[in-house]
Amino acid sequence: MGRIIAIANQKGGVGKTTTSINLSACLAEAGKKVLVVDIDPQGNATSGLGVEKNELENTIYELFVGECELSDCLIENVLDNLSVLPSNVNLSGAEIDLIGIEKREFLLKKYITPIRDNYDFVIIDCPPSLNILTVNAMTTADTVLVPIQCEYYALEGLSQLIHTINLVKQRLNPELEMEGVVFTMYDARTNLSLEVVENVKKNLKQNVYKTIIPRNIRLAEAPSHGLPINLYDSKSVGAENYRLLAQEVIYNDEGKEFDVNSFDSSIFDKKETKKGKLSKLIKKK
Ligand SMILES: Nc1ncnc2c1ncn2[C@@H]1O[C@H](COP(=O)(O)OP(=O)(O)O)[C@@H](O)[C@H]1O
Ligand SMILES: [Mg+2]
Repeated sequence: MGRIIAIANQKGGVGKTTTSINLSACLAEAGKKVLVVDIDPQGNATSGLGVEKNELENTIYELFVGECELSDCLIENVLDNLSVLPSNVNLSGAEIDLIGIEKREFLLKKYITPIRDNYDFVIIDCPPSLNILTVNAMTTADTVLVPIQCEYYALEGLSQLIHTINLVKQRLNPELEMEGVVFTMYDARTNLSLEVVENVKKNLKQNVYKTIIPRNIRLAEAPSHGLPINLYDSKSVGAENYRLLAQEVIYNDEGKEFDVNSFDSSIFDKKETKKGKLSKLIKKK
């Protein structure tokens, strides 16, 4: 059965979208079938995967308000093995537009449940708030993965986030679990990054991913080229670490012991991810 992971943290700029795009692309590179669901009106996961978000006639918003079908907005194989349910600024009205819609917390779930088994992983990129869109993501997901930026205020807001996850679990999705936290933008040159990691590990009962994502300029550059890091700069430390994270996610999923020091490159040798038929698809719409 396909696994659905919501990437959430109500703080902006912590690496949710960067993790959504690059974890997904590295899972796809490992031969897994992946669907990226962009449920953030900023549409950064959409554009970061090379989709011209402002030229889309149909997005997740039109789907939610009943103006299109799933097949009208789902863009298949933007990369090999990787499909996108895109979003753009249209979705920013959702909070108000969805008032009065019956079971509005279950909208996303309604559309994803019938297709989840077409994929090995469904990765949902959440907006930087705990609004109805994030609740929809958590109601649909099996687990929540929380990126934490290695900075002084890393833990701020985390208890609120965990509270929200617990509320969703109690009321809307009893199966929901915390996937764990992943540290992002780690800077090995500063003591601060190290202190943040130690501090969070000490104070948090949740699972902490062994893979740590370093601060890497190539990760920041890649979205402006509409490419995930493994295609933009396959040999960068950013690419290496997102591959390692993908391996850790796969190993967790398969119940295998993961050792952060033994990268299994054979997983990724199987499949060379290529730029898909994206431009053609977009023009057709
Ligand atoms: N590991 C990293 N190294 C360098 N820059 C990063 C890294 N992760 C994210 N960024 C940059 O930081 C900014 C915020 O990241 P983003 O993934 O958009 O956060 P969020 O989705 O949580 O708002 C973006 O400009 C992104 O390119
Ligand atoms: Mg984002």
